[in-house]
Amino acid sequence: MDYLNINKEAWDKRTKVHVDSKFYDVEAFKDGKSSLNNVELEQMGDVKGKKLLHLQCHFGQDTLSWARQGAIVTGVDLSTEAIEQANKLNSALGLDATFIEKDIYQFGNENSEKFDVVYTSYGVLCWLPDLSQWANVIANSLVSGGEFHLVEFHTFNDLLSGYSYFPCTEPDVEDEGTYTENCDGEKSKMVTWAHSLSEVINALITAGLTIEQFKEYRYSPYNCFEGLEFIAGKGYQMLHKEQQVPLLYAIKARKNS
Ligand SMILES: C[S@@+](CC[C@H](N)C(=O)[O-])C[C@H]1O[C@@H](n2cnc3c(N)ncnc32)[C@H](O)[C@@H]1O
Repeated sequence: MDYLNINKEAWDKRTKVHVDSKFYDVEAFKDGKSSLNNVELEQMGDVKGKKLLHLQCHFGQDTLSWARQGAIVTGVDLSTEAIEQANKLNSALGLDATFIEKDIYQFGNENSEKFDVVYTSYGVLCWLPDLSQWANVIANSLVSGGEFHLVEFHTFNDLLSGYSYFPCTEPDVEDEGTYTENCDGEKSKMVTWAHSLSEVINALITAGLTIEQFKEYRYSPYNCFEGLEFIAGKGYQMLHKEQQVPLLYAIKARKNS
């Protein structure tokens, strides 16, 4: 199955919807609003002057938000539409980001540049069949002692929604709409893989990274799943049998010197 082309087509379609959505609010972003949340801002600290690689950057709002904080940024994404929009935003804002349209595995095979920080976040791992290869791309892109930061939706929620927690040999292939408020219900075929927490952590360790921090969160900044409830000052929560479901996790890791 040509999963890359299937997902690329879906993300090209989704991006067109996303740039006009309130969810991504491009106008507010252009007016100076950051797309970054406290979770990644607190975890990553000061990025000024650092070379930062953003994997699966979508149409670049987070990448450009890091640039506004003084980082020297490169974003990589599979979607032609996303990279076109990211370049448009970059020009409109007079920033100096580099955006590369590529599958991250292919990027890893061709890239020789080294970065101080690699960042990836919110809905990235399910599109990747092989996390060992993913972790090697990260390790090979980092300078010795460089930092990796992942903020991801918690797989616990996938389990409660009826998906596998543990990795499967076959991916899920489904027709899905997108998660922004302005989608008209149009669906696209998408191919995704389940990845357990131990799979993520072990892939990073095996690639030569030391995990320095692992956190789980009860609140998500995004209203992008069914059944979420907004709690003022905190974000979105989900209850299961009256208990809070972990909605996000975050990993900070460092490439061994
Ligand atoms: C949910 S988005 C990431 C969210 C991002 N934090 C945001 O909202 O701005 C997932 C992104 O992964 C990209 N993607 C999926 N498979 C990929 C691959 N194999 N290589 C590179 N990018 C990929 C998609 O094009 C999409 O832009």
